[in-house]
Amino acid sequence: MTTRRLVLSRGAAIVGAASTGLLLPEIARAQSNKVRVGFMLPYTGTFAQLGVAIENGVRMAINEKGGKLGGREIEWFKVDDESEPAKGVENATRLVQRDKVDVLIGTVHSGVQMGIQRVARDSGVLNLIPNAGVHAATRALCAPNVFRTSFTNSQPTLALGKPMVEKGLKKAVWITWKYAAGDEAFEGFKESYTKAGGTIIKELGLPFPNVEFQALLTEIASLKPDAVACFFAGGGAAKFIRDYAAAGLKDKIPLWGSGFLTEGVLDAAGPAADGIMTTMHYSDSLDTPRNKQFRLEYAKSFRLQPDVYAVQGYDTGLLLTQGMEAVKGDIANKQSLYKALESATIDSPRGKWTMSKAHNPVQDIYLRRVENKENKVIGVAAKALADSGAGCKLG
Ligand code: PHB
Repeated sequence: MTTRRLVLSRGAAIVGAASTGLLLPEIARAQSNKVRVGFMLPYTGTFAQLGVAIENGVRMAINEKGGKLGGREIEWFKVDDESEPAKGVENATRLVQRDKVDVLIGTVHSGVQMGIQRVARDSGVLNLIPNAGVHAATRALCAPNVFRTSFTNSQPTLALGKPMVEKGLKKAVWITWKYAAGDEAFEGFKESYTKAGGTIIKELGLPFPNVEFQALLTEIASLKPDAVACFFAGGGAAKFIRDYAAAGLKDKIPLWGSGFLTEGVLDAAGPAADGIMTTMHYSDSLDTPRNKQFRLEYAKSFRLQPDVYAVQGYDTGLLLTQGMEAVKGDIANKQSLYKALESATIDSPRGKWTMSKAHNPVQDIYLRRVENKENKVIGVAAKALADSGAGCKLG
């Protein structure tokens, strides 16, 4: 009788645990067998569209490979980082400590990335950067567990100066948001433009994500440079393009920039964007089967035209699937996983690229011109451009 009651009550305890989802060994094993992937991206604010495009790209690449990572199912987690640097450490810590993610995919904003970088270095969690170009992430603060699939902030603008001077545009005004991405994009522009013989007559800036451009556009009109070069992105870029045209500058002073200026904004900017010249590691019109197929599939899946952010997300998904295949889903096998990520060749819509020793893409930079709501490729502005990786001791 006693024995029987004991058995019954044990049975009831197990049923109770099952109904509340607790502690059944099979359930626990099934759950822990999933790979935990966390997105830390902006889903609100001026970079909201960028976050969505990146997430779409990641999911598309993984779905194309059967929706699993090294044979394991995925459990997804998401945090809106709001492009807010002050909350960077806290948001990354939430994903790593509360949600216990195996991989953190993020982020867009360079200042927020500095928070992720700290958490990634302290915790050792795998971090894939699908956009933020902050130099330190793959220079002095590089880490064995941090890999970037996008660019460094000076990579696109290192290819910008020469074609401007070749067009006879020898005196330029530079304008940007004053934070790491704008400042480091300027470094690349300054180096390439002055080396080609150009002179920067004025540097203008405003705080991120401010879009009160009027006074600065008036100043540009009075400075009368041969050209304006800039870094802006997202919703702020669309407004800058429209305000530049509305101020009457579009047909007087050619507008050039790092290609983010015209990514994902061509519908919002309309004809005001026509003729803008940029340098970037992607172009809508790249005439390769890989790019055409990607654009078709993305448009079908999301009812949206893809942009460079979608491509970077897609490449993040490709990199992660390749790495996880190499270790057959054993993400704890870090040495083999990192080796696979380091030696991967990514067959990207932008063209094939490889990882530098500091874990940043070595890639072609294209010269583009906006025509009829498309970033049309004009040529290759820099072949297999690598960031210096200065101060990184990996590899
Ligand atoms: C950045 O903050 O690193 C950043 C943000 C948006 C871009 C490019 C770089 O389009």
